[in-house]
Amino acid sequence: MDIPWWRDAVVYEIYVRSFADASGDGVGDLAGIRQRLPYLAELGVDAIWLTPFYTSPMADGGYDVADYRDVDPLFGTLADFDALVAEAHAHGLRVIVDVVPNHSSDAHAWFQQALRGERRDRYIFRDGDAPPNNWQSTFGGPAWTRLPDGQWYLHLFAPGQPDFDWRNREVHQEFLDVLRFWLDKGVDGFRIDVAMGLYKAEGLPDVPDQSFKAESPIWGRPEVHEVYREWRKLLDSYDGERMAVGEVWTDSAEDLALYVRPDELQQSFNFAWLQAPWSPTAFKQVIDDTLGAVPSATWVLSNHDVVRHRTRYETADPGTGLSRAKAALLMMLALPGSAYLYQGEELGLPEVKELPPEARQDPVFFQSGGELPGRDGCRVPLPWSGDAPPYGFSPPGVDPWLPQPALFRSMSVEAQAGDADSTLEFYRRALTRRRELRGAIPYNLEWLDSPGGALFFTRGELTCAINCGSGPVPLPPHHRVILSSGPLTGNLLPPDTAAWLHTE
Ligand code: NOJ
Repeated sequence: MDIPWWRDAVVYEIYVRSFADASGDGVGDLAGIRQRLPYLAELGVDAIWLTPFYTSPMADGGYDVADYRDVDPLFGTLADFDALVAEAHAHGLRVIVDVVPNHSSDAHAWFQQALRGERRDRYIFRDGDAPPNNWQSTFGGPAWTRLPDGQWYLHLFAPGQPDFDWRNREVHQEFLDVLRFWLDKGVDGFRIDVAMGLYKAEGLPDVPDQSFKAESPIWGRPEVHEVYREWRKLLDSYDGERMAVGEVWTDSAEDLALYVRPDELQQSFNFAWLQAPWSPTAFKQVIDDTLGAVPSATWVLSNHDVVRHRTRYETADPGTGLSRAKAALLMMLALPGSAYLYQGEELGLPEVKELPPEARQDPVFFQSGGELPGRDGCRVPLPWSGDAPPYGFSPPGVDPWLPQPALFRSMSVEAQAGDADSTLEFYRRALTRRRELRGAIPYNLEWLDSPGGALFFTRGELTCAINCGSGPVPLPPHHRVILSSGPLTGNLLPPDTAAWLHTE
């Protein structure tokens, strides 16, 4: 049986605002992505996932959509999008776009109509002198905002992101139509925002806490699966193996597996991997749980919502974060299934922690009253070239929408390309080797005995070894080393290092 393209694809997430700015307004755009397609093809990824580029007031960086069928002028035009898809396909890159079905922007025509007191049935409105329940916004503060006429509306995120009422069939029809619009434009798949949130429990009961528990009145309600069955039928009615990957945060791999049943989504993000601490036991547990529960696994270390993994893995010992980040990448790329990369990780970018408060833009920062830094630190525009900001992100002299730190100078694509010791060249080598091995190795993984602190596994002729401990360990038996994330010492694998070995 043929293996569908997404089953072992490496997908590169483009946070559109921060990738490349061709128009010169300090914000990344579709034309900027087009210019950089050769870079992505050379990097060796199979697909790109674009974060929302639709018409939006940008209350949440575009995850507040005012028109699901148009491109925001900040990012370009529909013609730019058509050209981007055609050129990406010509480079052999598939294109996945974000779909945001849990909420729209308050500037969406339906919500504007609701504000005028008409057709409030497409959103979640309630009467009352007090907020209808105790739900809190994921970004901080109450999940309800009151209109001057006294009614409250629900927003699980920013007040500018009102939640749809998925019990209204019109919402289903609208989103099927939105999906058709982009499928007809040739997209290969969708990343579904807040995929476990669309249905809220009847009666909107209070929650004891805000955790993603199976009994939550907000997350993972059983009715949501009907939506993905409808979407799957639509995807399957198109040729070209169109797919969808859900943004699903769950407490267990079993709950995650519900979203990828044969008639639902093809993939779901596996955030347990990203949340695992630097520990062989934790990594092994997540791998076993995932492969035991999910037919087509996915792996992700970073995205535009979390602290970059290089910084998460940092210790008091400088350099540890990057060594561990490279080792984790090698382990991830050796696992069965598909891997999602986040722009800038191939440059080894750290989280930018020193952004001044006046530069911050994430609603998390504002809704938490400045208590939480928010997610701007992983969204700083990429450094491409040059000795000074904007480091080739924008044309010279333009200030990017978030300031770039001086350390980006030595981390730009230009600074790293051609330097065999750079993180960028390491990513290129790893992605090339992975492609060479693809098809030659079985999906299934077998664990090998490993010394304390280390993990060894094989897939046919490939063995992957990682050392999370504090001292060197002997490599498992092999014929030759394919690649390592750092220097090996003879037959020893140093701490914070991983290696791919050829065993045949
Ligand atoms: C998840 C997205 O990744 C995040 O950036 C956004 O703020 C929320 N969903 C709300 O749409």
